[in-house]
Amino acid sequence: MSYFPNSQNQNLHAFAFSHLQAEHTRMKQKPLVIWMTGISASGKSTIADALEVALHAQGLFTCILDGDSVRGGLCRDLGFTEGDRDENIRRVAEVARLMLDTGLIVIVALISPSSASRHYARSIIGNEHFVEVHVDAPLETAEQRDPKGLYKKARSGLIKHFTGIDSHYDVPIFPEVHLNTQALSVEQSVVTILEWIAQRGTQT
Ligand code: ADX
Repeated sequence: MSYFPNSQNQNLHAFAFSHLQAEHTRMKQKPLVIWMTGISASGKSTIADALEVALHAQGLFTCILDGDSVRGGLCRDLGFTEGDRDENIRRVAEVARLMLDTGLIVIVALISPSSASRHYARSIIGNEHFVEVHVDAPLETAEQRDPKGLYKKARSGLIKHFTGIDSHYDVPIFPEVHLNTQALSVEQSVVTILEWIAQRGTQT
């Protein structure tokens, strides 16, 4: 048994459940968390969706944790202050960790604007299982796309703390994968991620 490194409670003990390794063997795949970060309307959800389809075609087991979805349930009590975003990211990282332990390839699509919170997510998940993907689109492009009309609302002051407008986004310095969505199609972005995964190996 070991302690939980991120908990302040010294009276919690992590039991080493033996089914975990068995699950990995049954699925015959290397579990992984693909952490997509990028501003709103950069293409995270679209690429996550296409990536999942491609991974399924290879017979791999996956799960998507998407910002808008988790904020409708697991994180419905959270807003967009720095503290609430950190808590949103922490919860999703903990859930991703649980899914990782069952052998899944987890695709996370969160703005995750601060490099500190992404670093914290990496520490929860473990460096060897974490691939940071920067879904990179210029603010002007995302604002032109504005599929949910949120940039317009943010510009007119109807939404506060909107990433890129009145809330900061830390551009990832050394992501494992950088996707220039101006230059790459969705399919090309998926191929870029798949190449990274293939290079690492998908089978246990
Ligand atoms: S994060 O910063 O905590 O990682 P998350 O990815 O969960 O954000 O949620 C972002 C989504 O919430 C956006 O795609 C957008 O649809 C919606 N949203 C609503 N208000 C805001 C806001 N103030 N800033 C950014 N996104 C917002």
